[in-house]
Amino acid sequence: MRILFIFHPYMRTSLFLFFLLFLKVSCDNGFVFNGFGAAAKNLRLDGVSSITPTGLLQLTSGTSNVMGHSFRRGPLRLPPPGEPFSFSTTFVFAIASPNSDISGHGIALVMSPTDDLSAAISSQFLGLFNRENNGNSSNRIIAVEIDTIMNSEFHDIDYNHVGVDVNGLTSVDSHTAGYYDGSTGSFKNTTLASGQAMQMWVEFSSEDSKLNVTLSPILGTPKPSRPLLSTTVNISREFFGKNYMYIGFSSATGPWLTSHYILGWSFMMDGEAEPLDYTKLPPLPRFTSRRSWKALATWLPVASCALLLLVVAAVAVVVRRRIKYAEILDDWEHEYGPHRFSYKQLFRATRGFKDKTLLGSGGFGRVYRGVLPTSNIQVAVKRVSHESRQGMKEFVAEIVSIGRLRHRNIVQLLGYCRRKGELLLVYDFMPNGSLDKFLHDQSKASLDWAQRVRIIRGVASGLLYLHQDWEKTVIHRDIKPSNVLLDSEMNGRLGDFGLARLYDHGTDPQTTHIVGTMGYIAPELAKTGRSTTATDVFSFGAFVLEVACGKKPVEHESRGRQQLLLVDWVLDHWRRGSLLAAGDPRLRDEYPAAEMEMVLKLGLLCSHPMPETRPSMRQVMQFLDGDAPLPDLSPADMGYSVLSFLQSEWFDHFVVSESVPSHVASMSSLSGGR
Ligand SMILES: *[C@@H]1O[C@H](CO)[C@@H](O)[C@H](O)[C@H]1NC(C)=O
Ligand SMILES: *[C@@H]1O[C@H](CO)[C@@H](O)[C@H](O)[C@H]1NC(C)=O
Ligand SMILES: *[C@@H]1O[C@H](CO)[C@@H](O)[C@H](O)[C@H]1NC(C)=O
Ligand SMILES: *[C@@H]1O[C@H](CO)[C@@H](O)[C@H](O)[C@H]1NC(C)=O
Repeated sequence: MRILFIFHPYMRTSLFLFFLLFLKVSCDNGFVFNGFGAAAKNLRLDGVSSITPTGLLQLTSGTSNVMGHSFRRGPLRLPPPGEPFSFSTTFVFAIASPNSDISGHGIALVMSPTDDLSAAISSQFLGLFNRENNGNSSNRIIAVEIDTIMNSEFHDIDYNHVGVDVNGLTSVDSHTAGYYDGSTGSFKNTTLASGQAMQMWVEFSSEDSKLNVTLSPILGTPKPSRPLLSTTVNISREFFGKNYMYIGFSSATGPWLTSHYILGWSFMMDGEAEPLDYTKLPPLPRFTSRRSWKALATWLPVASCALLLLVVAAVAVVVRRRIKYAEILDDWEHEYGPHRFSYKQLFRATRGFKDKTLLGSGGFGRVYRGVLPTSNIQVAVKRVSHESRQGMKEFVAEIVSIGRLRHRNIVQLLGYCRRKGELLLVYDFMPNGSLDKFLHDQSKASLDWAQRVRIIRGVASGLLYLHQDWEKTVIHRDIKPSNVLLDSEMNGRLGDFGLARLYDHGTDPQTTHIVGTMGYIAPELAKTGRSTTATDVFSFGAFVLEVACGKKPVEHESRGRQQLLLVDWVLDHWRRGSLLAAGDPRLRDEYPAAEMEMVLKLGLLCSHPMPETRPSMRQVMQFLDGDAPLPDLSPADMGYSVLSFLQSEWFDHFVVSESVPSHVASMSSLSGGR
């Protein structure tokens, strides 16, 4: 432009402006940024994204639950519908996390009719969508996601994949990250969150409506000839009615402190993107820092005596620390390295397990609140005492596989640590604590009906995931309100998986250990000691009734010695035609009667004494979503008083072991009440 101006010194301003506009819209078919140092004016940044002094485009900056966007400033023109077009783009990115095994959530290359995605949210929504607009075809957003989390709600294939998203986060096509080797044709996988710079190419041609995505994990190697994904997307149709689109990047983090970077980016409309000049790309920050011992070396000759003393003192400290931070690490645990926390880390995180950081006790142990030292993640640390090493290997294997569960109604398990006589489990911290406080603690604000239904539905969806939708069937074994935690948006999340299992491997094989909590234990579990998905459904039924009625499953009547089972009490109301009177009085009748009735009947159906009569969690979800009607039930179908059923069928078969923790079902306390 400057050259034009010099050659036409007398050109009128309006003409000049016309030319400027003309150039900007029609000739601006491509761009190339080898680093972003000089590109700030060409990009529209929002959220946490920024350009570092070295010229890196930093989309997210190692903090949790944030998002960042960076769009090329100004829209790109699309031809009128029906006219052919193509584009090609390539960029270099890097995902760095203190722990490559847990990082999230990812980066997306976005094509959109707007460069303002501020209404989107972070975490699994990748800064692209929110709960309301996800999947809505009026979004007209096409994205290539580089995703390091496996999200079952969007049917992600794994926690290290590339996918093509059209208007929503359920990818229309996806593939484990990697590339096809040009010489052998075989697929080679690669870890996205390795902290290494990798290159991606995205190409589109309207001729066959194919969007090709290719990845190369080694910078500087030529583009693999076979694309990783070749997906049919009709971009002309998606942008129908718009003759422009914006292009840029979006990125979001969840609970993990991950940084997402773009090092260089090139784009060309109707042609091949200009190759990037790798020598000009900015360096990535060093992700680990080492202390320099140089200073010490300089002082060594001068203060060698002092140093000797220091060493002696240091050895003493180290020996004491060794004892203080001692833990158990068996050979078979090495493969679980990334899931293992050191005791020292946890000790520091909770400031020495001070009482001030105690969140609660009960269940299988005491729970402390902490902040992990290097990463600043807020966590809850549970200390479970466990003497026996028997079954520990299977248990840790299970813990590690549970750590791979990802669902928004499940409390994320981050890892574990073992010491003599105890096990420490590290979970995502849930700011609103457990549900039982909201139900039974009169000093806490009560939950309204809509919140309760949302929590019930959330727990049902988490349990469905465990039972049917994950790669293995996971039985929770201890569903109850104190194991349901509430996140910052008051969504219910299931916690404390499989812990009950530790106690299955009893020290005394002669005794039957029934694990779970009184009132939530299915009769057949008490009889056979075998947990199944149906015994979980029974506990879920008790849980549903408890949430709807605001009463515990077993209550002592005011005069003390009489036991009252909530199931029987609700059934009794139903028989007398006053089912709704069973609803929690704290709700003050502020609920749709039909919904309350459905929830109460669902609770009863799940609590049915015969396991084969109980629905599966998939059916439960259908009932809750209104996709299927509840079976036509009458109180007579429940047949008999559950209490009398339990008393006749159950107690005779049951022996209580002294070593079972006190909250674990103790039938003697119930029969003693008679
Ligand atoms: C999709 O979004 C449009 C515009 O925001 C809205 O009018 C419509 O109701 C949405 N559709 C669905 C199914 O949510
Ligand atoms: C790549 O594949 C191998 C063999 O199937 C597997 O062991 C490894 O975990 C995979 N790596 C990644 C990053 O998925
Ligand atoms: C996408 O890949 C397929 C298969 O390799 C190829 O036939 C097609 O030409 C490619 N399209 C673009 C736009 O590169
Ligand atoms: C894409 O959509 C446009 C508009 O709906 C249509 O005219 C065109 O034929 C479609 N292209 C392909 C390859 O299906």
